Amino acid sequence: MGLKCATLILFFTMFVASSIAIDPCTSKPDEAGLTVIPIFGKCSPFDPPKPDSWAQTVINMASKDPARLKYLSTLVGQKSVVSAPIASGQAFNIGNYVVRVKIGTPGQLMFMVLDTSTDEAFVPCSGCVGCSATTFSPKDSTSYGPLDCSVPQCGQVRGLQCPSTGAGACAFNQSYAGSTFSATLVQDSLRLASDVVPGYSFGCVNAISGESIPAQGLLGLGRGPLSLLSQSGGLYSGVFSYCLPSFKSYYFSGSLKLGPVGQPKSIRTTPLLRNPHRPSLYYVNLTGISVGKVLVPVPSEYLAFDPNTGSGTIIDSGTVITRFVEPVYNAVRDEFRKQVGGTFSSLGAFDTCFVKTYENLAPTVTLHFTGLDLKLPLENSLIHSSAGSLACLAMAAAPSNVNSVLNVIANLQQQNLRILFDTINNKVGIARELCN
Ligand SMILES: *[C@@H]1O[C@H](CO)[C@@H](O)[C@H](O)[C@H]1NC(C)=O
Ligand SMILES: *[C@@H]1O[C@H](CO)[C@@H](O)[C@H](O)[C@H]1NC(C)=O
Repeated sequence: MGLKCATLILFFTMFVASSIAIDPCTSKPDEAGLTVIPIFGKCSPFDPPKPDSWAQTVINMASKDPARLKYLSTLVGQKSVVSAPIASGQAFNIGNYVVRVKIGTPGQLMFMVLDTSTDEAFVPCSGCVGCSATTFSPKDSTSYGPLDCSVPQCGQVRGLQCPSTGAGACAFNQSYAGSTFSATLVQDSLRLASDVVPGYSFGCVNAISGESIPAQGLLGLGRGPLSLLSQSGGLYSGVFSYCLPSFKSYYFSGSLKLGPVGQPKSIRTTPLLRNPHRPSLYYVNLTGISVGKVLVPVPSEYLAFDPNTGSGTIIDSGTVITRFVEPVYNAVRDEFRKQVGGTFSSLGAFDTCFVKTYENLAPTVTLHFTGLDLKLPLENSLIHSSAGSLACLAMAAAPSNVNSVLNVIANLQQQNLRILFDTINNKVGIARELCN
């Protein structure tokens, strides 16, 4: 089998109210590419909120970031590799994009939340208590198979209930913030566009209590043992990239590319760091942050990568706005305020909002990584209020109730960039790409 590349089209149509000549929601043949849409996008089967504006939507979405930060930070200090979680329910609380996949033979269509900081997949199965109406029906698939406690994949699941003899179904329970679920590890074919991953292991959810679990499941793009990259073997060669379109585009699409074919040939890269205690996360070495021409003074211990404490910086697709540990954020914010001048107010998660007429005074924020400087375009560092009178620095400190040691580079800061993950050569590439 040769290397394959599936181009996954992102339809990010969050604020579209009127009709469009070509309806992107109608099903395309599988060969045309896998459609990925925002969870509250026009084509999404999920009920969208009724946002006043895109800024309000971002603020609403960002209000879930603290729960995600807590999820990310509580897992980084884990000591044992084999107990790598099969995804906490916390991850389920937050999801910005939905991917259209088919599971089983013949394929059953599911819209699953996509998450680069989670490895595994979870799917609500028929008969599930507390799940929504759309479930995967194992008995209608000829390629379905249950997994036994004795299989190696089962050892990678957290919350196991296997008997010590190793016989019986690989069943487990997990919980988070009011939501708990029980599932069994099973396997079946996973179809991504025209690609098929046979014997893909995922959690078949049998019961849910609580409301924070995505209705049609979750698909992890992390790099740990049960991830899509690991389970797809040579199919994608450990490589994928995505380009997230602008949050405020009226109608916009980006792409997710799996596999080395079709990736940018020349792209600036920074080393991808591996934390054996948290193998799912994509760590990079953030060495400094500049505001305008000023390299913000930050004690290096707040940026340094330390596998034992989990500290450092990750690139994440499930968090909405970038969060720095408090001393780092405060230093960046103070320098930013100093250069803009004037008075500042708060809006949602943002504490540095100013009258938009001063926007041309706003300095550029540059993230310095080993071997790569990322100068954030203005749309990736500022957000405008719906009324249009305020602009805010679109970053925040990690929530104070979380003992966080992680800096998280989030979605809003990744707009119109191609982010390439090469888990074999341990590189992350970043290049400007307009994918609106
Ligand atoms: C797991 O969840 C199921 C269903 O909610 C419950 O019956 C069972 O007691 C739970 N087991 C453990 C060990 O928590
Ligand atoms: C990160 O960069 C700093 C500064 O260049 C360097 O001292 C440190 O060794 C790097 N850390 C890793 C894990 O590469």
